[in-house]
Amino acid sequence: MSSDPLNFSSLPWIGNPSASFDSSAQTVVEGSELSKIIKPIKIGNVQLPNNLVLAPMAGVTDGSFRQLCARLGAGYSVSELASCKALQMRSSQTIDMIKFDGNTGAYAVQIFGSDPDLMAEAAAFVESLNICNIIDINMGCPVSKVVKTGAGSALMKTPDLAANIIKAVSKSVNMPVTCKFRIGWNESSINVKEFAQAVIEAGAKAITVHARTRQAMYTGPAQWQYLEGIKEIAGAVPFIANGDITSKENILELYERTGCDGFMIGRGCVGKPWLFSELLGHKELLKPELRFPIFRHQLVDMLMEHGSSAVPLFRVHLFGYLKNHPHSASLRRSLCVERNPNVVLQAGKDFFDMN
Ligand SMILES: Cc1cc2nc3c(=O)[nH]c(=O)nc-3n(C[C@H](O)[C@H](O)[C@H](O)COP(=O)(O)O)c2cc1C
Repeated sequence: MSSDPLNFSSLPWIGNPSASFDSSAQTVVEGSELSKIIKPIKIGNVQLPNNLVLAPMAGVTDGSFRQLCARLGAGYSVSELASCKALQMRSSQTIDMIKFDGNTGAYAVQIFGSDPDLMAEAAAFVESLNICNIIDINMGCPVSKVVKTGAGSALMKTPDLAANIIKAVSKSVNMPVTCKFRIGWNESSINVKEFAQAVIEAGAKAITVHARTRQAMYTGPAQWQYLEGIKEIAGAVPFIANGDITSKENILELYERTGCDGFMIGRGCVGKPWLFSELLGHKELLKPELRFPIFRHQLVDMLMEHGSSAVPLFRVHLFGYLKNHPHSASLRRSLCVERNPNVVLQAGKDFFDMN
């Protein structure tokens, strides 16, 4: 690390992804702007150090990214969605995807499916792996392959089945069971409130609502107006809001409008994992000189996690880091097929030196 301008002794992990986890960055800085809103919460019996949640994102939130975001302050993370059928077949690829040796505190494995018995069996298997504290059920995935089986956001059309899944899974595991869903299937069938009521009555220990319909997929602005009134339905059950959370300002607005208990951040932290530090008030983690070491840390950790597939998998993050900067278009073009980690690392160094 001698070539680095900073003294990293207070951040031993930055040059060594295997360093043990230090939870100090997960504490909200006293007196910081959001210190009344960002705070510890509990999901069932699981204590979260704060209510900033890294969203599950298939192909994006692998173990390396979940660990990095936790090191930079995220209080809780959720795995990419895992098929209950794949778990039933003990698919090693699926097990590798949900495994997390990060020991960062609170972590949920998210499963999807539409058969309550199969879901219950998959959840019990996940619990037996001893890798997580919470089971989350996906009721929001919009992808055709998933919805045509009645799973993901298709469950919003069958709230009774969704409730039966929560009941069956809750019966099969000891850990809290939560779910994540959307505001409805499409604009003419917004049923988020009735749906929230149904899953809470069935025993969900927290709900996360993505403020878009299935029809909207991931496009268009999140429709926060439909999150208003959910907290009143949720009562003591934590309600985590999701969709387009990217700044202190919009956290404040979202809180004022909805009174939500937590904030789930998706695309806003891809290429900007220090967003969590920013929201928690950890100014020491926002130094521009730290940007490249964070970038390097992530790439090195991904090489350790994924071997030769790391560079292609890193691309979505790389493009996130380059986003909104002058001169990034040509860099993007030249890196979109690159597979050599040294070339990507050098490009990152040159980029952060320039910006
Ligand atoms: C590439 C990608 C993959 C996603 N995968 C999942 C997933 O596996 N499970 C899930 O519940 N949501 C998934 N989502 C949805 C996100 O968790 C989140 O609800 C959505 O991106 C809205 O939040 P945002 O506006 O902060 O990005 C995914 C989103 C993206 C962009």
